[in-house]
Amino acid sequence: MDRIAIRGGNRLFGDLPISGAKNSAIKLMAAALLSDQPLTLTNMPKLSDTRFLAALLESLGVEIGNGSDVMRLHAREITSTFAPYDRVRKMRATFNVLGPLLARRGEAKVSLPGGCTIGARPVDLHLMALEAMGVQIALEEGYVLARARDGLKGADVSFPFVSVGATEHALLAATLASGTTVLRNAAREPEIGDLAHCLNAMGARVSGIDTDTLVIEGVTSLRGTEWAVIPDRIETGTYALAAAMAGGEVTLTGTRAGLNDALIGKMREAGVEVDEGADTLRVRRGEARLRPVDVDTEVFPGFATDLQAQFMALMTVADGESVIREHIFENRFMHAPELARLGADIAVHGGEARVRGVEALRGAEVMATDLRASVSLVIAGLVAEGETTIGRVYHLDRGFERLEAKLSGCGADIRRLTGPESSGEDDGH
Ligand code: EPZ
Repeated sequence: MDRIAIRGGNRLFGDLPISGAKNSAIKLMAAALLSDQPLTLTNMPKLSDTRFLAALLESLGVEIGNGSDVMRLHAREITSTFAPYDRVRKMRATFNVLGPLLARRGEAKVSLPGGCTIGARPVDLHLMALEAMGVQIALEEGYVLARARDGLKGADVSFPFVSVGATEHALLAATLASGTTVLRNAAREPEIGDLAHCLNAMGARVSGIDTDTLVIEGVTSLRGTEWAVIPDRIETGTYALAAAMAGGEVTLTGTRAGLNDALIGKMREAGVEVDEGADTLRVRRGEARLRPVDVDTEVFPGFATDLQAQFMALMTVADGESVIREHIFENRFMHAPELARLGADIAVHGGEARVRGVEALRGAEVMATDLRASVSLVIAGLVAEGETTIGRVYHLDRGFERLEAKLSGCGADIRRLTGPESSGEDDGH
């Protein structure tokens, strides 16, 4: 199984390019199911998650062609409405094919995704929204059997709490429903805006984009289009934190202003210099120790849960104690014991982690438990004395394109040690 080896201590300098957003790309790919014309996605990241979803879509009849950062998806005909356990279990976002399959074919059988290492992650809100749209749902042996004989119907849906996945899923389905759908208490993550704008380019009628109330007037069909995937704000934030950790001066290119305001505020509080341009983010830190800063994860525009592990890594070497509270997922501190193996001082109680900054971390062998947790270990490894090796690299490959090349391009001593094929087992993000 591949591992990543890092020799800590190098400061980072130079430009680092940001890829298209994984969490937008995989929703846009599902949108291709809604039209019998081709959807061409540009600025596509090359990740194991996009490959995995492509394989599922192909099994449903979608023709897929790949260029360097382009993917063309053509759902001329949906030949299957069955998404089996093995194709859904490994990646939760695959569950979002259910709504589009119902919209196109009036029925579908899709495996329930199950829990994962960061939490139980049920899909009750997804099903609630689809039921409100007239879908009959039965749960049998781990599968959702769904039917919308007379097509999907517009509905007024109020989510009891904010869910990114349920908002996107309902949005996808509602584009082809008859009548108007209103989604209240909708998530406002930029990836949802990206999806909604792309759907509009395909002929959908979505308004209220980037607010917590989406209004979707159903149309009878959608056309093909070409769409550039939004830059990855989590990749941007991750490398911004990596640069802050290692010190030096790095300019992230190909990103977009306004995607990481909460993070930038916290980084500045910690003493990091951050300058945002229209599509760049320059991060600079000198020799002084970082100040400790408390963080609470929230839905957008609050501090992203997907950057919590990376920020915790930064705080492990701050000059004092910081408190990090996780409010989105119930079990998202699995990086804490691994960071402790590098010498970090972290006490976790329920959804709260107290991080007492130490003067230095020391290299060790550590193990990735999920995508964002594993990259927090990379960040810590950049300053740990000696060598850090990180196992289960397949987690990183799900969401970070050319991670070693991007970091070593700025001077990090990081390399991949290749071993026999990984099992590819994972936790269904
Ligand atoms: C998306 O997950 C992202 N995944 C996650 O990124 C991200 O952490 C999360 O949003 C929050 O920003 C993708 O976009 C593929 P939710 P999602 O529905 O949609 C509970 C990464 O590392 N919930 O907003 O699954 C749920 O258990 C991943 O890239 C229900 O109870 O997140 C969680 O506690 C990890 N019932 C909370 O809501 C439901 O029906 C928020 O989940 C749906 C969700």
